[in-house]
Parts: sequence; C-alpha cells; structure tokens
Amino acid sequence: MSVLIAPSILASDFSRLGEETRDAIEAGADWVHLDVMDGHFVPNITFGPDVVKRLRPWTDATFDCHLMIAPADPYLEAFAKAGCDVITVHAEAGPHLDRSLQFIRSLGKKAGVAINPGTPESAIEYVLDKIDLICVMTVNPGFGGQAFIPGMIAKIERLKAMVGDRPIHIEIDGGVTPETAGACVTAGADVLVAGSAVFKNGRNAYAGNIAALRAAA
Ligand code: DX5
Ligand code: ZN
Repeated sequence: MSVLIAPSILASDFSRLGEETRDAIEAGADWVHLDVMDGHFVPNITFGPDVVKRLRPWTDATFDCHLMIAPADPYLEAFAKAGCDVITVHAEAGPHLDRSLQFIRSLGKKAGVAINPGTPESAIEYVLDKIDLICVMTVNPGFGGQAFIPGMIAKIERLKAMVGDRPIHIEIDGGVTPETAGACVTAGADVLVAGSAVFKNGRNAYAGNIAALRAAA
C-alpha cells in the first residue's frame, strides 16, 4: 500500500479555506483532513458540517473528517450529508463506540476510530471488523504544531500486528514532519496527516512540503 498524505486544513488560512483546500490537493496531496473540535472533548473550537458542505465543491479528493466532539452520534448524519467520505470518531468520546461505527457505515461512509496518546490499542480490539481506519493520535488533540510523542511508535507497531490482513488504514495524526514520517511508516502507517508541515511558507511551498513528506515516508 502506498502512503497517502492528508493535509490538515487546521493549519491553513481559515479566511480562505476553499482556496487552501484546493491548493493542497493541486500541490499533490491525496486526502483532505478536516479537524472538527467542539470546545468540550478538546480545548479548542473549529468548524461544523456547514463549513464542510461549502468546501465540498472545491475538490473531488477524499474528505477525511476527524471528529473531536462528544457526543458524536447526533452529528454523524450531518457530516455524512455534508460530503465527508471517512468519518472518524474518538474511542474516548463515547458513550457507545460500536454503535457510532455501525451508524457511520449505515450512512454509506468509511468508519474510523481515533485513539488519544494515553489510550491503549486494546480500546479498539473488539471493533476491528467494523472499521476502515484507525487514527493514532501522536499529540494530544486540540491544536496543530505540537511535538510528536515518540512513544507512539510502539503503539503503531502493536496496532499493525492487531490489524493483520484486514483492509484497515493506519493513520498518524499530530507532529508529522519529514523527521518523524519515516518511523511512522516503518511501524505500519499508510496515511500521514500533516498540518503545519504542509501549510507553511506560502502556497508556492505546498508542493515541496508534500514532496518532502512523501520522500521521508
Ligand atoms: C490535532 C489535529 C491534527 C493536527 C495536526 O488535534 O487532530 O490533525 O492539526 O497538525 P500538525 O501536523 O501541525 O501537528
Ligand atoms: Zn486530526
């Protein structure tokens, strides 16, 4: 499986989200990573389904929606209708992870589960056959630009072994740079989310920033 690069628009210019989304894809990105925060599950607030809906016409690329909200269930249908392709909920968000995942698939979307740095991989052991993606948080969620937590490499390796030959993406989110990308991929990752490492030095730099991540992966 080749490695997919998913820029997080959290690090982009929020006053120009459409252009930034289009520019990242034109610069060679594979997916668009959308960080939804509620000021409750995480200590920051971003955007909701109406913004996703407005972004949808800007690209055909996969919209990878990372819901850092609790509860998530009341909003899943709205995000599905807004045009998300992958919808990821947090294992810690509760109250019923299995139900949330079944609901996402019933909406015709790929189901993802994210786990925070302090959450062991065993948290998703019993839902492995109901997911299409595991998002391994390598920072505590809420903000871009934080440092990668090195101890998470061992967790990625354990998850890779747990997943076995199931068709499940292992996505890494937080502190991904050309310096940290290689170890993530060696450990088993096949989707790399990157915010600040992509959206830096102006739009003319995006292609080079993405190429540097790909080369490191
Ligand atoms: C953190 C978000 C990440 C984050 C990544 O809560 O889920 O997607 O924005 O940003 P960088 O790559 O800057 O760590
Ligand atoms: Zn994210």
